[in-house]
Amino acid sequence: MKRKVLPILVSLLLLIPTCFVIAQSKNDQATKQKITAIVKQLTLEEKIALLHANGIFGTAGVPRLNIPGLMTDDGPLGVREDVLEGWGSANLKTDSATFFPNGSALAATWNPALSYNYGHDMGEEARARKKYIMLAPAFNIARTPLNGRTYEYLSEDPFLNAKMAVQSVKGIQSQHIAACVKHYALNNQEIERDRVSVEIDERAMQEIYLPAFKATIMEGNAWTIMSAYNKLRGVYCSENEYLLKTILKGQWGFKGIVISDWGGTHSTVTAANNGLDLEMGSRPPYNTYYFADPLLKAVKEGKVSTATIDEKVGRILWVMYHTTLSENSPTGSINTAAHSKTAYEIASESVVLLKNEKHMLPLNTAKIKSIAVIGDNAIHTNHLGGFGAGVKAKYEITPLKGLENKLDKNTTIKFAQGYKGIYKTFWGSNKTEISKADPALIAEAAALAKSSELTLLFVGGNRDYESESRDRSDLSLPFGQDALIDAVLAANPNTIIVVTGGAPYAINKIKEQSSTIVWNWYNGSENGNALADVLIGKVNPSGKMPFTFPADLKESPAHALNAYPGDSVVTYKEGILVGYRWFDTKKITPLYPFGYGLSYTNYVYAGLKTDKATYKSKEIITATLNISNTGNYSGKEIVQLYVSKPNSSVERAAKELKAFTKVLVNKGGKMEVKLTVPVKDLAYFDNKSASWIVEPGTYKILVGSSSAKIDQIVSIIIQ
Ligand code: BGC
Repeated sequence: MKRKVLPILVSLLLLIPTCFVIAQSKNDQATKQKITAIVKQLTLEEKIALLHANGIFGTAGVPRLNIPGLMTDDGPLGVREDVLEGWGSANLKTDSATFFPNGSALAATWNPALSYNYGHDMGEEARARKKYIMLAPAFNIARTPLNGRTYEYLSEDPFLNAKMAVQSVKGIQSQHIAACVKHYALNNQEIERDRVSVEIDERAMQEIYLPAFKATIMEGNAWTIMSAYNKLRGVYCSENEYLLKTILKGQWGFKGIVISDWGGTHSTVTAANNGLDLEMGSRPPYNTYYFADPLLKAVKEGKVSTATIDEKVGRILWVMYHTTLSENSPTGSINTAAHSKTAYEIASESVVLLKNEKHMLPLNTAKIKSIAVIGDNAIHTNHLGGFGAGVKAKYEITPLKGLENKLDKNTTIKFAQGYKGIYKTFWGSNKTEISKADPALIAEAAALAKSSELTLLFVGGNRDYESESRDRSDLSLPFGQDALIDAVLAANPNTIIVVTGGAPYAINKIKEQSSTIVWNWYNGSENGNALADVLIGKVNPSGKMPFTFPADLKESPAHALNAYPGDSVVTYKEGILVGYRWFDTKKITPLYPFGYGLSYTNYVYAGLKTDKATYKSKEIITATLNISNTGNYSGKEIVQLYVSKPNSSVERAAKELKAFTKVLVNKGGKMEVKLTVPVKDLAYFDNKSASWIVEPGTYKILVGSSSAKIDQIVSIIIQ
């Protein structure tokens, strides 16, 4: 009897996905019919009303047919507070939010599951606030460390970006909130972002700058995308037929809405005909927008067809049926304990241990009686700051507060500010106010360091200093911090330096002078708690750098080739050699390599092998190896797999990241780690045939703990 029941059960179970697909496609069919019916009832004026902003973050909708306006809001740090016309705070009591760690912090976790949780929780907060499109995630490639938005973005690597961003999209959209992936494409600098034209070789664009966008559309199924401010090859991204129609809507089959960046539309007819769906901006009068009265006129004059307008309206309604008008939507929630937990987990997995020569970390809390906490960054909050999107955090635990929360009560903590982290710019003028070294603050800090057993010195940037709408002019530490660092290190060699930043800084001198360095980020609501737990060893650091720190900015590709920032044109002369691809290929030793980060324990890699020696183009390479934890702490290790193609017929980077995994290895433990790479991922983009080609021959599989520390190598052959 049992024998008969089992196969029946199995076949029934196998039917479930099929039933789901049928139900799903029936749903899709029904939605399509509803959309067609609505489009028929709309007047031209009503259709046009759906295609442009009528407020800072929203559109008007069509009340006659109960079609709501679309309400968007910024990420990526969390759901932005409500603002009034002119960007001033609406001063609501209901719009505080969880502040999630910044993009490069999230990328430094190398943990896609956390990226999903981030999206999921932000989606819940967006839903509770009735913001149906989250303008996140943001993941333009870190081409130059100077880019003011590096902190908002993820990394310098397309593969890491794709893995993380796809999960954020899935997380956000699980709450029936549309993700808006941004900024499509090649918005890699803030200087002249409104007019600069990117000249780039097609292969570099396909291999480096587009893959994460492609993945968020094709795997992540993102419902909306934001066109970038800049031009590509002389044409604004918001009206770029090649980007919007040929690639996005054509090759990638994108069904959702292309939303312009705010004020980033430059034409009516061209933009409408070349693929832009929705014009956003923040300056009234909204009826004068390109996609408002001028679009109405263009349709009446036959310059834009009604079919084109209907298609855009159809896309907008389609997104509404997944979001505002979706059935069985979750209810949403704000500032829950679960959201704090996600913020904490991301923060604690993002901290990067750069140097621990004297094993001062983790802190021996039972023994230390007095700690000097020095530096403005110990008390500075970063949920708001600069010109970029922030959040009105319900709370943000500063490092000082975190230490007070977590350290043994018998340890005395004393604080000295050491420097002031003031950076102010004034709209409409080039005036900048930036604080300089303050001898009195330095003297006070040095005296405190001298009289304490141990010093924790907090330096780095802040979110006023790293900001949207401008790039940094160099990588030096701001606010006269070098003088403070010298004085504190001279006063107390038992000093641990914690650098906070969202992008590389020139910390060469710190690396030389100091035995112990920790890298922290704009790490969200739970920043201080997470950081303190890392310092006291409750959490073993497991973050790894998502970008290369150059030893000298001049050695960074765009700078070495004098290919930044350009004037009206910026030519990406480095081609595919972005980030570590450049440093490795040109054999330049950076200050800190991509993928670098230490732990309180040691991991030993051994026994790398692949499941086969030879592969065909449609196969998947499975690599296995053993990781042993030979130290005294359990910990999470990020195992990185790079691929190299010796003697290639085309230019290649010395190696490229093709797989990674983050695994927990208990102290004294050993485990097998499996990494897979589809052979198709070894392809390069061939400009001549405009196609991806997997070159046959020998490839090397390199596995290690950073791009510069490869422990295990095997060769395979691709037929
Ligand atoms: C930024 C976008 C942002 C929009 C709305 C623009 O300046 O580039 O990332 O979503 O403003 O705040």
